[in-house]
Amino acid sequence: MSEWLECIACRHQYAATEIRYTCDCGELLEVTRERTLGNRALFDERRQGRSAIDQSGVWRFREAVMDVAPEAIVTHPEGSTRLYEREGVLFKHEGENPTGSFKDRGMTVAVTQAVRVGATAIACASTGNTSASLAAYAAQAGLRAIVFVPAGKVSGGKLAQTLAYGALALQVRGDFDAAMQLVRQACHQLGIYLVNSINPFRIEGQKTTVWELLQDLEWQAPDWIVVPAGNLGNTSAFGKALREAHAAGWIERMPRLASIQASGANPFFRSFSESFRERHRMSAETIASAIRIGDPVSYDKAVAAIRETNGVVEQVSDDELMAAKRTIDRYGIGCEPASATTLAGVRKLRAAGVIKDGERVVCVLTGHVLKDTDAIMKNVPAEQMIEIDPTLEAVAAALA
Ligand code: F0G
Repeated sequence: MSEWLECIACRHQYAATEIRYTCDCGELLEVTRERTLGNRALFDERRQGRSAIDQSGVWRFREAVMDVAPEAIVTHPEGSTRLYEREGVLFKHEGENPTGSFKDRGMTVAVTQAVRVGATAIACASTGNTSASLAAYAAQAGLRAIVFVPAGKVSGGKLAQTLAYGALALQVRGDFDAAMQLVRQACHQLGIYLVNSINPFRIEGQKTTVWELLQDLEWQAPDWIVVPAGNLGNTSAFGKALREAHAAGWIERMPRLASIQASGANPFFRSFSESFRERHRMSAETIASAIRIGDPVSYDKAVAAIRETNGVVEQVSDDELMAAKRTIDRYGIGCEPASATTLAGVRKLRAAGVIKDGERVVCVLTGHVLKDTDAIMKNVPAEQMIEIDPTLEAVAAALA
């Protein structure tokens, strides 16, 4: 047994092929190995490889992701996203994944596991990106796809994308947290395989965002890695990635994690502000619909990630995150609103002296600019989009 599932609280172990998402004690499970396999030279060499699994920014790190035969891997491939530098800040653009968000990194692993355990149908609750990713990978693997989305609360582009790939969309009359509770019950009762980030294989794939950005930086760890925080899968995955990279000697020092929430959906920030004395649950509201989440499922893993990396949790208002989005968009990079919490958070943490001058900062942009066009079109200034008659005079007048 080279890898297994282990409870993060009571450390009870289960076989890697057992279909379960939580321990009998109720806590979350993580994929565990005796030690982290693979090494930097091997990962660097694979960057030149031509096979899909070498080109995948997930499976390039396969020894440390999942013990599976190469021919059993369901990969698009994904990852291998760009790292941009603008005004001294680095941006790892996970919106450049095949379905336009970071979710593909976890989904390739979860769907590979779904096939391995013989699942015929997979499901998730989603604010839109997980559902699009699930639908694409299910289509590739020939599995039935069912997504539970909060009715009327998902961007049109994400919903259209999910439907285009062929998934069944159940529009739940309630918020994301209600859809999440419902999909957990449904999967348990109806024998459907659950691929939300409560599924520990999702986390294994999402670790590779961090490993790939370390690789982009020639394994010189930055001072800060900044990530949006909603359901807390990424924060959890990034903590595990850094813990494993440090233990394996891939990096000499730990970067600090900064998880950023929208102030209208800030249960994790509230807990952090009280030294994690209490877990908060709330009814969430923010323009960043991807992270409109009030009861994040990976809370306990994310607390460990912040503690182990000497990390921080910050909150930003909708105005602050939309201002940061305008900056990122005008760089010619672009991202969806939730992703822009990162730069908004950096601005706030710098102003507060938490991030110091000269520190190297990587923001992880989680979703593509086209994921939420409503958020853009609602804010276009009148002078930027002008309807005209098809005449040269009209053009000249518009340019004046
Ligand atoms: N950014 C984007 C673009 C997202 O879609 C999400 C989550 C997050 C950030 C937050 O990441 O949940 O790991 O803390 N979207 C999920 C979904 C909930 O259903 O697509 P997290």
